[in-house]
Order: sequence, then C-alpha cells, then structure tokens
Amino acid sequence: MAEVRLENVTKSFGGKTVVDDLNLTIRDQEFLTLVGPSGCGKSTTLRMICGLERATSGNVFFDGKPVSWLPANKRDVAMVFQSYALYPHKTVRQNIGFALKMMRVPKATIDEQVLEAARTLDIEDLLDRKPRELSGGQRQRVALGRAIVRDAGAYLLDEPLSNLDAQLRVLMRAEIKRLHVDVARTFIYVTHDQVEAMTMSDRIAVLRDGVIQQCATPEEIYERPANRFVASFMGSPPMNFVTGALADVDGVRMFRSTALSQPIAVSDGQPADVVLGVRPEDVALSPTPVEGYRQGRVFVSEPLGPDVLVTVRIEDELLKARVPTPFRLGHDAPVYVGLNPERLHLFSAADGTALQAPRDAA
Ligand SMILES: Nc1ncnc2c1ncn2[C@@H]1O[C@H](COP(=O)(O)OP(=O)(O)OP(=O)(O)O)[C@@H](O)[C@H]1O
Ligand SMILES: [Mg+2]
Repeated sequence: MAEVRLENVTKSFGGKTVVDDLNLTIRDQEFLTLVGPSGCGKSTTLRMICGLERATSGNVFFDGKPVSWLPANKRDVAMVFQSYALYPHKTVRQNIGFALKMMRVPKATIDEQVLEAARTLDIEDLLDRKPRELSGGQRQRVALGRAIVRDAGAYLLDEPLSNLDAQLRVLMRAEIKRLHVDVARTFIYVTHDQVEAMTMSDRIAVLRDGVIQQCATPEEIYERPANRFVASFMGSPPMNFVTGALADVDGVRMFRSTALSQPIAVSDGQPADVVLGVRPEDVALSPTPVEGYRQGRVFVSEPLGPDVLVTVRIEDELLKARVPTPFRLGHDAPVYVGLNPERLHLFSAADGTALQAPRDAA
C-alpha cells in the first residue's frame, strides 16, 4: 500500500523557486502522470518523492507518515530514470538482480524474482546478454525490470520512453500501462508528452513553472481544461484560439469575432475580453455554403491517414480543422467553416482562466 502525499512542497535552487507550494495526493495503486514543458519541475518533484532531493519547505508523506528525513534507500519506492543507467559489464540477469544483491537477499530468491520480472517483461531469453547486445526497447525493459524486481509500494518513472523511436514508444506505452495493472502498485510517471499522459493515466497533473495548473482525469482535462495553458498543452493538434469581444446585443451578452458567422450568447458577468477555444475536431468544413458557417479559404491541408488536418484562413485568423478523409479542396479554394456550438471553450484574455463555457450559458 502506498499513498503518496505532497504537502506545501517548495523547492528552490539558489533562490530560484522551481517547485512552488505543491499540494498533491497520489492514491494507492493510482497511475498519476506529471506532465508539462521542459524545466517546469517534473523531475525535481519526482526526486523529492524518492528522496534524491530535499524539499526546501513542505513535506512528503507515504501512507500518512512523513518521509522527508528518510534517505532514498529507506523509502518504499523504485525509480526508473530517463537514461537507462544499466551497468554495461553486467548481464541482464545481474542488472535486474543488483538491488536485491545489495540488500543481501539469498541467491535462490534473487534468481526466482529476476526470472519472474523477466517473464512479466517478456525478456526471459535475454537474461545472459550484456546491455550493448540489446536494442533500445530491450534495454528499456531491463531498466523497468530493475525497478519492478524491488517490489516497492510506489514506482517512479521519469520519461522512461523518451529515448525510444516513435513506434517503440507506442508499444512500450501500452506495456507499461499493462504492467501497472499486473503489479497493482502506485505509479508516478513523468513525461512532457501529452499523448503519453492522456493514454496511460488515471489522473494527470499539468505543471507549469513549478505550479500545478490542473489535476484531473484525462477526460476532464481534455473536456474542461482549467485554463488556456492546459487547453493548449493537452491535445494534438492543439486547440484553436479565436480572439473576439463581448458586446451586449438586445440585453444579451454576445461574443463576436471574424471567425464566426454568428455571435454566441454567453452568460452575464464575463470579463469584456475573452478568447474562444475550439478543438480542431470540433470544426466542420463544407465545400458549399451552409447556414451558420463562415466562408474562408484553404490555407494548407495535411493528410494524417484517417483524417486530414486542414488550416483555413478567415480574414486574419488561421483555424485548424480535423476532418475525415478524403478532403479534396486545393490551396486557396473557398471553404465553409462551422464550429460545434456544444464544444466551445471561453477563457479570460487577461489571465487565461477558463470561464463558464458558452454551452452552459443559455
Ligand atoms: N541541481 C540543480 N541546481 C540548480 N537548478 C536545478 C537543479 N536541478 C534542476 N534545476 C532547475 O530546476 C528547474 C526544473 O528542473 P526539472 O529537472 O525538474 O525540470 P523538468 O520538468 O524535469 O524538465 P525536462 O522536461 O526538461 O526534464 C529547471 O529550471 C532546472 O534548470
Ligand atoms: Mg526532467
């Protein structure tokens, strides 16, 4: 059992705060992902959980007990580093069993546990090889094996897939997700890849400049981003943002912009300057005029396989639409653009906070 709780955790390096008053509870057996751009404090947070780094202030708790004073080897965690950090002169078997050997576990038990970890990861036939005789994906599995053989309450994984090519990353992503189910332990996973975060996690904590922007399920983060940063970071291709202004029309507050043919009613009490957000899959295109659609021109189209990503220019705005294949209009052809009114987001232009979505406003 391992519930990990961070309470008011702050970390500064030479006066610069890189993790700022973080509060987060990772539930027992949860798969929680810390995601955010480079330098936002993900690895530092993970290192404070495992004990490789001390918080400047605040506390870390495992199952309600403070562990801030405990060194890394006394905490019930196993960590997988971004670089595999395998011992080059040891075999796979010795690499996986090394931590157990250090803990003076009897040899027969080590052999048994190494074999079991190797079976879980499907690398049984590689046990007598050296790391240099392995592919990147196989080395990655050995690095995972070294962690899971430890039977820790929580596994901390720092960008374990970033050294792999795109295809292998997709494969290993599913394997780690499955591994989480099989070992039934708490996983805290760090990545800057929003697709990994979306596909693998029970919950995602989005970090920016050492501050959690939102912590919620992938669905919640995608459907109801707390602010413009989360909205633009999560989702590929990213959400479109349309600037516009609010005005009162016949006593109703309306959002107007050049990208929309019709103004959208919003609830009262919104600030005057807002930004409208719409995901590319919520933008529809038609080669012929449709009521309520706005005319634009095809700027560029990019086939993605089942879908085509079409960038449309409407006056000065560029809007991306993700539409099904085939899409046959060429560059500069007129095209009619409709936004799904059910799926629009509104953000404050001043600070990016999500405002009541227009769909809830009526
Ligand atoms: N030991 C250190 N001394 C000084 N500054 C540090 C130290 N470790 C990290 N930092 C700084 O703290 C900030 C956060 O670093 P961290 O490694 O946590 O980022 P990250 O989110 O993991 O980024 P990446 O995605 O690039 O790995 C960065 O600005 C980094 O330069
Ligand atoms: Mg990092």
